[in-house]
Amino acid sequence: MTTQRKLKLGAIVHGVGGSMTTWRHPEVLPDASVNFEFYKRQTLKAEEGKFDLVFIADGLYITEKSIPHFLNRFEPITILSALAAVTSRIGLVGTLSTSYSEPFTVARQFASLDKISNGRAGWNVVTSPLEGSAKNFSKKDHPSHPERYRIASEYLQVTKGLWDSWEDDAFVRDKESGVFFDPSKLHTLNHEGEYFSVQGPLNIDRSKQGQPVIFQAGSSDDGKTLAAKEADAVFTGHDKLEDAQAFYKDVKERAVAYGRSADDIVIMPGINPIIGRTEEEAERKYKEIAGLVTIEKALDYLGRFFEHHDFSQYPLDEPFPELNGIGSNSFRSTTDKIKKDAKEQGLTLREVALRAATPRSKFLGTPEQVADQIQAWFEAEGADGFIIHSELPSGLSDFVELVVPILQERGIYRTDYEHDTLRGNLGLNIPVNRYTAARQEVGI
Ligand SMILES: Cc1cc2nc3c(=O)[nH]c(=O)nc-3n(C[C@H](O)[C@H](O)[C@H](O)COP(=O)(O)O)c2cc1C
Repeated sequence: MTTQRKLKLGAIVHGVGGSMTTWRHPEVLPDASVNFEFYKRQTLKAEEGKFDLVFIADGLYITEKSIPHFLNRFEPITILSALAAVTSRIGLVGTLSTSYSEPFTVARQFASLDKISNGRAGWNVVTSPLEGSAKNFSKKDHPSHPERYRIASEYLQVTKGLWDSWEDDAFVRDKESGVFFDPSKLHTLNHEGEYFSVQGPLNIDRSKQGQPVIFQAGSSDDGKTLAAKEADAVFTGHDKLEDAQAFYKDVKERAVAYGRSADDIVIMPGINPIIGRTEEEAERKYKEIAGLVTIEKALDYLGRFFEHHDFSQYPLDEPFPELNGIGSNSFRSTTDKIKKDAKEQGLTLREVALRAATPRSKFLGTPEQVADQIQAWFEAEGADGFIIHSELPSGLSDFVELVVPILQERGIYRTDYEHDTLRGNLGLNIPVNRYTAARQEVGI
């Protein structure tokens, strides 16, 4: 029996918004980024909409020019642990950097979140784009882009190895006999590699979903390779369906080349739907947000992708400046695209900055129009699902109350959760503990 492919949905909760100025909108709670009640409300709304997951992004370096949300926000594992206690089905996914952390600690933190939530944890593995991060972690240099991905690849081997320290039936806990665990089901990793040396075992066992779900968010060549090898799901961003389709095909083909199945990896572009009862109302909502952005703030926003480069030094209405390598060691895929679009379309600096700071969503319109776009991308294999970013808090309730019922009616989206784990809902297999698998292979 073949099961029909179903759309996946996630919600990014982003406090006072992803832009420099959204916090000034009358609807936005100005302390939303550090307001637990706000995070709880948004997460429960996403769970009401049967979303697969809620996603908390993160970064490790700020300057006075960072967007307001980045200046004062919750650490992902902490907020997700609190959200685990007030939800029961929705997946809990957070960003954590492999360039500035230790695999033993991180394996432990995500394993704990996975058990606290009964198998709903996910880790968005990032390599940290901003060079300044090194200064917050007692490091002299920020590793280069390719090196960050080499570190990430070894890091994931270690973490996944640690997560298998205990086989699923290792803890006997027999009060009568005094046997707490079966030592033959406890395994020491003894990893010695280029960047890490980690003995193990990990001091926590596996959850109901085996291991936390691995998400990956880099779209460069190295990013795609890491995703294809190691990730269960990929976050990405595309303006055009053709680009999304090319990315989708590329990552799935790479996964198959690594001996995996195309279905083992779920591709989820981030989108920013703006929904109105009429197209005019949706357009008005977009203009309300875009109208808050000044050109100075737009230049700061653009600068962050280029290592906080100061764009105010260039004339605004002349062609986008030649930047040579600036940005290549940080948000590589994003800065490459900005430079390419500026060149191909002959854009001025003002145009590039405003486009970056106030992108006009392709998913804008009535609930039917937004549902049409989502269905089109899903059916044309531009996406297996989407991460919904609502710049205003009401954007998420609009989506859940107005768009979700249409998607359900069309039979492409669930009317209830199929499972109680994140892996189950995303349609991913539970990874069998490697030692149990080896035992089964030799028949013991
Ligand atoms: C949808 C999406 C979400 C991302 N979330 C984060 C994040 O939360 N924290 C972070 O440091 N980087 C985040 N990134 C950035 C990437 O992880 C990556 O560091 C950056 O894009 C540079 O790598 P690349 O050149 O491989 O794309 C995100 C990227 C995308 C496309």
